[in-house]
Amino acid sequence: MSVVFSGIKPSGELTLGNYLGAMAQFLTYQEEEAYFCIVNQHAITVPQEAAELRQQTRRLAALYLASGLDPEKVTIFIQSEVPAHAQLAWIMTTLSQMGELERMTQYKEKAGGLNESIPAGLLTYPPFMAADILLYQADVVPVGDDQQQHLELTRTLAQRFNYRFGETFKLPVAAVAKETTRVMSLQDPLKKMSKSAEDSGTILLLDSPAVITKKIKRAVTDSENKLSYDPESKPGVSNLMAIYASISGLSYAEIEQKYADIPGYGQFKLDLAELVVGLLEPIQRRYGEIMAGDELDDMLTIGAQRASRVANKNLHQAEYAMGLSRR
Ligand code: AMP
Ligand code: TRP
Repeated sequence: MSVVFSGIKPSGELTLGNYLGAMAQFLTYQEEEAYFCIVNQHAITVPQEAAELRQQTRRLAALYLASGLDPEKVTIFIQSEVPAHAQLAWIMTTLSQMGELERMTQYKEKAGGLNESIPAGLLTYPPFMAADILLYQADVVPVGDDQQQHLELTRTLAQRFNYRFGETFKLPVAAVAKETTRVMSLQDPLKKMSKSAEDSGTILLLDSPAVITKKIKRAVTDSENKLSYDPESKPGVSNLMAIYASISGLSYAEIEQKYADIPGYGQFKLDLAELVVGLLEPIQRRYGEIMAGDELDDMLTIGAQRASRVANKNLHQAEYAMGLSRR
């Protein structure tokens, strides 16, 4: 059985990109030893309002359940409720070099233009993420494409630790979705679909069917009016096809075949909207029920207890290896 770990930040509303890039993959690991974390300590690398953060944390926990994760099989918990994360994060920070942190693409994107006022947490967040993963001796980390560089750093830090202090950590690998490791904006298919972009290019998991359909109908395509998968010259259409393929299970060739005799993109878009609505509607219904019920708190308490047992054991091993603990 392999150990699986992943996390999502409780900041902003989840998008179809989060779902198809990360959460849908989570569901395939329920027979493994799997940990799915609500990484609230990562959310605070940029300022958060307290009440809002608390609410978003609860909503993300509900979405984990609504998407089909079964707390009887997997461990769902809140990062700040397992202090070992922050403890190992400090150790990983001390093993990191400024240069390698400054080279992280996500850091460069987020810090760009901020100059003196760059929050230090934006820089030191990748070693924190490494700690999240190494704390469970994870083999597999299901994430979207934008996290692969952080996974490489995680392996580098694990190797550095093992080299200096003796074999302690396993080296994890990223698992990425086949077609949807990078879902692009429907309005600007050269940019990633993101939580922060509050425009019609982003489909939110909790968007109503009418809104989803409207956003897909308005999605940017091209004037060729012929469906074919070619991300270089047809980024808009190819992104829609990737979403279609991922939900329907059809290959690109099968999709092209299906619409070969239908000119234009209208019918394809309507069918895609139906697929997305069909995927999200049951999740939204369960989400409503879970938010109204009272199962969340107990589930999160038990999750934090289960996670702590494993995390504390591995933290202690690392601290002992480094000479931080007496025995
Ligand atoms: P975040 O919302 O930044 O905490 O991301 C949670 C997970 O969703 C990470 O594994 C991301 O790589 C993934 N993700 C976020 N946006 C997208 C996207 N547009 N396409 C695919 N995966 C994504
Ligand atoms: N850095 C990830 C993101 O921004 C979230 C994250 C934090 C994570 N810790 C993790 C993902 C550990 C996988 C494993 O999306």
